[in-house]
Amino acid sequence: MPSLLAEPLTLPCGAILPNRLSKAAMTEGLADVYGHATGDLDRLYLAWSDGGAGMLLSGNIQIDGDHLERPGNVIIDREPDDDTKRALSHWASAATRNGNHFWAQLSHAGRQTQKLVNPHPKAPSAVKVGLPGGQFGQPVALTEEEILNLIGRFGTAARICKEVGFTGVQIHAAHGYLLSQFLSPRSNQRNDRWGGSLENRARMLLFIVNTVRTVVGPNFPISVKLNSADFQRGGFDFEDSLQVAKWLEQAGVDLLEISGGSYEQPKMMDMEGMEEAAPQNVAASTLAREAYFVDFAKAMRAEIKMPLMVTGGFRSRLAMEQAVRQGAADVIGLGRPLCYFPEGPKRLLGGMEMLPRKENELKLFPPSLQFLTRIKALKAIDGFACQFWYYSQIYALGRTGRPAPDRTVFQAMREVEATQKRWMKERRAALGK
Ligand SMILES: Cc1cc2nc3c(=O)[nH]c(=O)nc-3n(C[C@H](O)[C@H](O)[C@H](O)COP(=O)(O)O)c2cc1C
Repeated sequence: MPSLLAEPLTLPCGAILPNRLSKAAMTEGLADVYGHATGDLDRLYLAWSDGGAGMLLSGNIQIDGDHLERPGNVIIDREPDDDTKRALSHWASAATRNGNHFWAQLSHAGRQTQKLVNPHPKAPSAVKVGLPGGQFGQPVALTEEEILNLIGRFGTAARICKEVGFTGVQIHAAHGYLLSQFLSPRSNQRNDRWGGSLENRARMLLFIVNTVRTVVGPNFPISVKLNSADFQRGGFDFEDSLQVAKWLEQAGVDLLEISGGSYEQPKMMDMEGMEEAAPQNVAASTLAREAYFVDFAKAMRAEIKMPLMVTGGFRSRLAMEQAVRQGAADVIGLGRPLCYFPEGPKRLLGGMEMLPRKENELKLFPPSLQFLTRIKALKAIDGFACQFWYYSQIYALGRTGRPAPDRTVFQAMREVEATQKRWMKERRAALGK
């Protein structure tokens, strides 16, 4: 019997996803110094399109070149010239060559912009990221006029993405980036119409969804990536998330992707502490021991009809099928395994039981020094270094069409740091900054 995961899904806007597997958004770092799409991005997405997922989400594309999530991001922060448009079109046609969807994830990093990119990024309020290591600068609160300008930029970027051949857009409101900062009372301490009550904190996101819908029309998919919770005391919690999901459903969102956490609390990447955090009306399930946010999705499904995508931790076909069968997810997002095993979706649809796992093997420190990760600052460095290993696989896929799984975490860290520094230096020189 064919897998449930092979069934197409019709979205509220009428678009059809050919199957239930999606490549989750993963920042590529492969744009040129102007933030333009490149041949390396084409090669990377050819591999992912051949990989068999019904939908590919791009890594976060920035709507403001001064607020990159990282050096090497694609940037759409102005009307593109013909060459820029052509490069975006090439990328979109490479990424859709198997008839799958390709959606642009639009984002602004806010206070999570690295100091290397901008020492004084704009954010809802002047509240700095609470991490040791000095990677992030002191943010400056956005003015009303700047907020309105950013809302317009999300709309412009969405229009351009549609024009060049993306088949949908996703607004990134999760993981502690700008829109997630607005949603959280910890990082949003404003007392104007953009802060305070949940309605005010969600206003920017809802304005953006409405603006994007106006420019892309009724038949083009719009998705939002939302945290189920920030997992921080006094932060954006599940009740808030459920209410925002209801508003997004009313606003006509086609697919809500559920994730969680931020740089301060990177729950999107692991399981630690998730069982205690599950919503009270849903017992943590066996399935939830593999998939981090599935219990949140089940609790959400009980109250909303909009299609849900759940991302984080899925590795076995059985867990993916169960999540779809139980109605917790309509689409399953797959991230890390596709960096070193891009054919994963095709293999799962062909009957493979389990994607190869790497996350537990990757370590910066040798076994004799593992105890060092009990120190908070070193744990954070270890976390970033392991993340860099995936970045390095993406570089390899983009440059050669093949991953480089034998690379060590230490080698990957050095490669990514050097590449990012060089990219920033060349960008400053190119822009005369
Ligand atoms: C290398 C890498 C880059 C990522 N970049 C993004 C991103 O640009 N946007 C986003 O929403 N999430 C990003 N994520 C998070 C993933 O979309 C996903 O939520 C996370 O990896 C958990 O799914 P997984 O367990 O299948 O890897 C990234 C994750 C990785 C590993």
